[in-house]
Amino acid sequence: KTIRLKDYREPPFLIDQVDLRVELFEDGARVHSRLDVRRNPSVQPESELHLDGEDLKLEEVTLNGEHLSASRYVVEDSQLTIRDMPDSAVVGVVTWIKPQENTRLEGLYKSSGMFCTQCEAEGFRRITYYLDRPDVMARFRTRIEADLKRYPILLANGNEVDRSPLEEGRHQVTWEDPFPKPAYLFALVGGDLVERHDSFETVSGRNVALRMYVEPRNQEKCDHALAALKRAMRWDEEVYGREYDLDVFMIVAVDDFNMGAMENKGLNIFNSSCVLASPETATDAIYDRIESIVAHEYFHNWSGNRVTCRDWFQLSLKEGFTVFRDSEYSADQGSRTVNRIDSVNMLRTAQFAEDSGPMAHPIRPAEYMEITNFYTVTIYEKGAEVVRMIHSLLGPELFRAGSDLYFERHDGQAVTTDDFVRAMEDASGRDLTQFRRWYDQAGTPELAIEDSYDAASQTYRLSISQSCPPTPGQPEKAPFHLPFELGLLGTDGQDLELQLEGSEPSGRSMVLDITEPRQEFVFTNITARPVPSLLRGFTAPVRLRYPWTRDQLMFLISHDSDGFNRWDASQRLATDVIEALAEGREAEVDARLVSACSALLKNDALDPALVAKMLSLPSLAYLIELTPSADVLKLHQAREQVLTSLARSLRDDLHEVYQRHPAPAAYRYTSEDMAARALRNMALAWLLSINDEQALKLARSQYGQANNMTDRLGALRAVVNSDFAEARQTLLDDFYQQWQADPQVVELWFAVQAASPQAGTLPHIKALMEHAAFDWKNPNKVRSVIGAFAGQNLVNFHAPDGSGYSFLAEQVIRLDPSNPQIAARLVSPLTRWKKFKPETADAMQRALREVMGQPKLSRDTYEIVSKGLS
Ligand code: ARG
Ligand code: ZN
Repeated sequence: KTIRLKDYREPPFLIDQVDLRVELFEDGARVHSRLDVRRNPSVQPESELHLDGEDLKLEEVTLNGEHLSASRYVVEDSQLTIRDMPDSAVVGVVTWIKPQENTRLEGLYKSSGMFCTQCEAEGFRRITYYLDRPDVMARFRTRIEADLKRYPILLANGNEVDRSPLEEGRHQVTWEDPFPKPAYLFALVGGDLVERHDSFETVSGRNVALRMYVEPRNQEKCDHALAALKRAMRWDEEVYGREYDLDVFMIVAVDDFNMGAMENKGLNIFNSSCVLASPETATDAIYDRIESIVAHEYFHNWSGNRVTCRDWFQLSLKEGFTVFRDSEYSADQGSRTVNRIDSVNMLRTAQFAEDSGPMAHPIRPAEYMEITNFYTVTIYEKGAEVVRMIHSLLGPELFRAGSDLYFERHDGQAVTTDDFVRAMEDASGRDLTQFRRWYDQAGTPELAIEDSYDAASQTYRLSISQSCPPTPGQPEKAPFHLPFELGLLGTDGQDLELQLEGSEPSGRSMVLDITEPRQEFVFTNITARPVPSLLRGFTAPVRLRYPWTRDQLMFLISHDSDGFNRWDASQRLATDVIEALAEGREAEVDARLVSACSALLKNDALDPALVAKMLSLPSLAYLIELTPSADVLKLHQAREQVLTSLARSLRDDLHEVYQRHPAPAAYRYTSEDMAARALRNMALAWLLSINDEQALKLARSQYGQANNMTDRLGALRAVVNSDFAEARQTLLDDFYQQWQADPQVVELWFAVQAASPQAGTLPHIKALMEHAAFDWKNPNKVRSVIGAFAGQNLVNFHAPDGSGYSFLAEQVIRLDPSNPQIAARLVSPLTRWKKFKPETADAMQRALREVMGQPKLSRDTYEIVSKGLS
């Protein structure tokens, strides 16, 4: 069944107050709910009240305290209907649920001895009957009762207002959240957890208690998240004028979690892997991920909670805006350029692929079958790019004015993406009518650039044409409005003064407004043919076509003042070389790439973090994304050829770089040290790709002596991916021995093996799934083995015999009954079959049909697979 945006109607009833009493037991939980319901005055009255419910055992229904006779209500699979509903009434419902058997991890469930919840998007209906839609906002009072010894910590949203002992060794704690909220922001936790305290003084001088709750074995892993939280709280005050609004802010870590984290009001719940860190157990990449996710969830307090979504088609209202906010926050913490590179790399690899596949959807979709399938890179990352474009078009001051107006105008409301854009328009005076197409049209626009130079008139002419390929249900697209930043490099590599014909000079970098299918720009006073630096900072989520020569790319690599475009030129050069080899147009690796890399390795004027990014070859996933009828094996071999030939030619430079960036005695989470680790580990990986014996010695000693997980895992990964089979096994065994008690580190150990391109991985993957540490019920384990194989180990996943595809289909079928959300995510690589050469595409579709043939497929997996086959 498909849900459509055009069918949206206001709710016929509203709920002002919710009183919950949740009794937690070892065999289940009883939920007593009292709802103050009244008819919505602004819609046509309906006599029946329909409450959503799923997997609930109804024990009692009352109206204003009176038991309802059987003729007054109907219980069906997914709803409870109350007939002849008065204008207002207190609806009482008692339900019995089984958190212990909840393997979907939606609603209330148990994870390693602790009770916790995940209600977004539609989990609350698995706790009790309710109007489970985001435009119904109520005040919640939550009383939790549980055994005192087993569950000393009982948490819910808001402030604690009461606690007392009960009979039979039980106790109760009561919480009250003064802010009306949709049910998806409800949360509850019960467990035997240790509490870490901290505090934050807000800009207006209020003191907020910060508390982090984790299992005792994790108490040393909280420092980074707490420090990041305080930085994020300050940043939101300074950059957006947003202050925290409750007396307490809580973070809880749970091991079993479908997603990264959840912004429940005052009680954020995190996947352990996205919040817990110590230098010994977490890599720099994990530190960065925690920094941005902690900030993301915190920022939702305003962009998501105080102002929420009217319906789930508006999901990007909160997610796109909040991702934009967290990425700007991260950019302010470390290197802005490196942050931008990471975001764009991800966007161009994963989101562009989604946008050209069967699940392509606009950031405000028009329809869905299962909303959990729409927590996508499009809604999140492309959504953030759309907000970023508004920021570029308006400039920082007007954008801030728009954001202030949005929060002021809509505080306490459930609104739409259109309300967001309107606030931006009203505050800035800009007309964003055409810009709104970004919300309705799917697909990645393409910009084709042509240029010409006229020496006689000293003018440089640039023409920009835009188009957008068709996507499912959208054959034609109207032109987009987008900001396009550019600069022109003179023969000395400096940015030229830019002046458009008939306009004032506009500096050395400028933003053009693109609105038409084709536009021409004429720059005057240009004394020699410039090299254009196009789409600086990636100001719009588009594909760029321009006939760069390799010499132009070399020039940009060494001179562009825009760090992002310097990196982009390095990627384009490497891509061009790899594609030429894969297509057999060239046999040898172009010497210019070798000399560009050699120069980068010796360059100590550039930020080492940027150098490391520029030296990283484009991923196989990205190369596939760029190629219409991809032959994975050929692309992989060409990429390997480039890698090994670079490593051979630059062997001495790589050893020298390795020595020049020794590990300091103590671990520090600073951009400088992280850049050094990135370069050191890259050099090691390159050297091991050519089976360099001396590098193997370095790797062994780095592995043994490392005081942090970045270096230890860097050494392990380099060896695992090399041909040194014996060393590989020794280090893998040693690593497991040392870290088997820490599930997060075991996940890294799984992923390093599952993602290894070494031949013969599939039998090894199957062996990993038999390993004692593997657990089908834990999404992180499933992701670190099966997800890493199908998502990162592309050369083995796409094995020509199709074994990777049938393996994945089998695992999806196995997982679907217990956790459909994760099964639906796992299956998606198979839906990208159109990208591949015909034999491959056929085998992928066969695997999809195998899944489709299952008699009882979940709605989640059904939607992805059926769209994937159409
Ligand atoms: N709102 C959460 C976040 O952006 C993600 C929740 C995902 N929930 C889901 N059912 N898929 O951090
Ligand atoms: Zn979010």
